[in-house]
Amino acid sequence: MKRFPFALDAEVPLYLAPMAGVSESPFRRLCRRFGADVVVTEFLSAEGIRRENPGTVDKLRFDSDERPIGVQIFGADAVAMGEATALVTDVFGPEFIDINFGCPVKKVVRRNGGSGCLRDLGLVQDVIRRVVQSTHLPVTCKIRSGWNDEMRDPVAIARRCEDAGVRVLTLHPRTRTQMYTGSARWDEIAAVVDALSIPVLGNGDIKTPEDAVRMRRQTGCAGIMIARGSFGQPWIFDQTRDLLEGRPKRPDPGIEERFRVALEHARMAEEYEPDRRGAAIEFRKHLGWYVRGLPGSADLRKRLHAVSSLGHVEGIFEEYLRDGHRLASLEATAVGEEVLEVTSA
Ligand SMILES: Cc1cc2nc3c(=O)[nH]c(=O)nc-3n(C[C@H](O)[C@H](O)[C@H](O)COP(=O)(O)O)c2cc1C
Repeated sequence: MKRFPFALDAEVPLYLAPMAGVSESPFRRLCRRFGADVVVTEFLSAEGIRRENPGTVDKLRFDSDERPIGVQIFGADAVAMGEATALVTDVFGPEFIDINFGCPVKKVVRRNGGSGCLRDLGLVQDVIRRVVQSTHLPVTCKIRSGWNDEMRDPVAIARRCEDAGVRVLTLHPRTRTQMYTGSARWDEIAAVVDALSIPVLGNGDIKTPEDAVRMRRQTGCAGIMIARGSFGQPWIFDQTRDLLEGRPKRPDPGIEERFRVALEHARMAEEYEPDRRGAAIEFRKHLGWYVRGLPGSADLRKRLHAVSSLGHVEGIFEEYLRDGHRLASLEATAVGEEVLEVTSA
């Protein structure tokens, strides 16, 4: 069996993916509570860490209830990557350091960061070796399938990463030029699983717990990394664990429970972020995700997207629940009227 380089209870660990602006400390803690086995920070610039840029260093903060946690770094300068790794190891001591070779954003790839590195596999290996030399912690990495269609070769890239010393590899099977279009090619995850002797995490297009189980079955991946599928539904981890262990999955929470989780998340975000207005504005996206699909959600979202204080959210939810009851009774009357019409026709 391929072994993970840190202690884990789960045989098939479920990871919360690194996500800029989303996988911040409050959300990571929440997902850990809802069954994520491992979490990873959003990608942080090695330059920013090495220069101790306050905005970057601030994002390195995490609580002990987030462990096991990985800190994800990016950069194409092997020396800077090594220095950042040493600082993160000494000062923050996460369970592992993850290198980002997947970010497709222009600002990052222009300097060969993120998936920009995938155009030069020699550079990928230099970066990995330097990072490995700079820490006693396990080093892992996250890749895409290649820079573009012509350079698409996930197995070759993954082999080079393993050869340079990474201990776990995540594949998001799209190319950089695809960004987020098209489907993630799970067959490529299966090919990389077969080719490597380290654990491989599958990532891409898991929207439901059933998708995660299908990915595991189709690819044999050692663990599963969920990104967008966790938006507004952190309970996806517990539900996936249920299915992986052969139990019926626990039901989706009802509206009131959903609101309770959203409010708890909001409180955590508020405590974490000293700028309360900034916290509320940043949090609007989560609110939108929590209410997605609810009856009348367009109007609810509009109101939530206008909040400038998280204190307002509770009132909006309460009002919705009150109106919701009114709506439900209106619906019942409407059904009754329909029945009357049918019987009198
Ligand atoms: C808002 C957002 C931010 C992301 N930020 C990062 C990041 O910082 N580091 C990284 O490796 N991938 C990042 N990703 C990519 C995800 O980790 C993941 O690979 C991708 O979304 C595919 O998985 P999914 O289909 O489960 O969403 C980000 C994705 C999203 C949607």
